[in-house]
Amino acid sequence: MGLYAEQLLPRIIDVACNTRESKPLRRRVCDGLHGEVVEIGFGSGLNIPFYPAAITRVAAVEPADLGWKLARERLAATSIPVVRSGLDGQSLPFPDGSFDAALSTWTLCSIPDAATALAELRRVLKPGGTLHFVEHGLAPDEGVRRWQHRLDPLQKLLAGGCHLTRPIVQLLTDAGFTISELDAFYEKGAPKFLGADSLGVAAAA
Ligand SMILES: C[S@@+](CC[C@H](N)C(=O)[O-])C[C@H]1O[C@@H](n2cnc3c(N)ncnc32)[C@H](O)[C@@H]1O
Repeated sequence: MGLYAEQLLPRIIDVACNTRESKPLRRRVCDGLHGEVVEIGFGSGLNIPFYPAAITRVAAVEPADLGWKLARERLAATSIPVVRSGLDGQSLPFPDGSFDAALSTWTLCSIPDAATALAELRRVLKPGGTLHFVEHGLAPDEGVRRWQHRLDPLQKLLAGGCHLTRPIVQLLTDAGFTISELDAFYEKGAPKFLGADSLGVAAAA
């Protein structure tokens, strides 16, 4: 990783992903998490304040060392044990069926091979375990999609490989998840090309 990706991008993400509008979405997506949880793309721990007390432990997977450092105060403020346990969502260092639930917030856009990451999540979830997700991706409207395709190369360059055009629901179902709750909407305060969100819960068979 270069200087930009290592030293600057995690700070930008820490601020850009910590909007007032994102907080109710984080609360909603964390609702119902319990037991042993794996969070991929932990970033700077912006979900920590929304972890329900029913969580017994979080295994955090995040490649950026600086993200982990920026999470320090949030980590100190929670009584839930959070352990940095992996660096890459595409290759999770856990046995099959280890977790009750998984969490991914605005992360599937940035993982190079999202299908592999979802297959890994499915593998490490217990049967019937749930993935709680809020992700931005391909917009429902053709006009917005055109802009997403135009801006995708720039977004990837500036935002650490973030893709604007990933079909989140299709990726989840292709990976064998069964979606039990889904809300699709444009995020308030974000441009439509960046804020076409899917928020929900999907079960590993
Ligand atoms: C847009 S940020 C979202 C951070 C955090 N989930 C949040 O909601 O604030 C995307 C995160 O995915 C992480 N990431 C990138 N590649 C990854 C990979 N292969 N495995 C796990 N996380 C990855 C980035 O370092 C970054 O922290």
